[in-house]
Amino acid sequence: MCKIYVTLILAYLNHISLYPCLLDYAHPWQISFQDPATPVMEGIIALHHDLMFVLAIIGTSVIWLLLRTTYLFYHKNNPIPSNITHGTTIEIVWTVTPSIILMVIAIPSFALLYSIDEVIDPAVTIKVIGHQWYWSYEYSDYSDINGNCVNFDSYMVSDDDLQLGQVRLLDVDNRVVVPANTHVRALVTATDVIHSWAIPSLGIKMDACPGRLNQVSMFIKREGVFYGQCSEICGIQHGFMPIAIQAVSIEDYVKWIAVQAECKDWFTNKVKLLQK
Ligand code: CUA
Repeated sequence: MCKIYVTLILAYLNHISLYPCLLDYAHPWQISFQDPATPVMEGIIALHHDLMFVLAIIGTSVIWLLLRTTYLFYHKNNPIPSNITHGTTIEIVWTVTPSIILMVIAIPSFALLYSIDEVIDPAVTIKVIGHQWYWSYEYSDYSDINGNCVNFDSYMVSDDDLQLGQVRLLDVDNRVVVPANTHVRALVTATDVIHSWAIPSLGIKMDACPGRLNQVSMFIKREGVFYGQCSEICGIQHGFMPIAIQAVSIEDYVKWIAVQAECKDWFTNKVKLLQK
């Protein structure tokens, strides 16, 4: 019983942030998750905590059962062994109980899985392309009739070029700018080998496969910079193709995309549509 309380207290302490600000990249000696910025990541963390609760109860009962049987049936404590080899009732109990627990876990788990899959009427679509070893991004919502659109490559900032305040191995020369509090869709693909576009605070980990277009949606609830890394072993510089997403207000996003697209007429109309 004491074990349950210790586990519960530890689980609760995990909730309290050890840092004065929100955690949007990996921190030395970090335990547990980075702070969530999307409803999806909040759901993942909530499910994780629920599962840890179930896990604590199961772990405690199984360990208690094992210790008690090893003690009670030790040859010195139990010199005359019993002849019982099976019992129908106990076998039904230890088959049915775990399956009920599994079903109880499966319901919220599937609900979360399918809600992550849902793409809700996105206001902005970005295309994410993995290369050996950098990411490139296209904003094809604003392309002209010739198919020209806002697009750029995003390389890691090397140690020698780091500015004060930049995060080593995580900051990039061109960040992906997206509006906060807006449904954004990312279409993820690759040109050479399989990469994976992963941002822990957003609850995103989407494989980037050559010849395939994967889709993931995000609704970032606060402004900020969110860091991630390629999450599929893709070659010698796999660890050096980070992702930096900057979530800004819709007004700042419009200003940013206007500069990128050099404010063409066709573009201004699109922005008006977005602002509605
Ligand atoms: Cu790209 Cu690992």
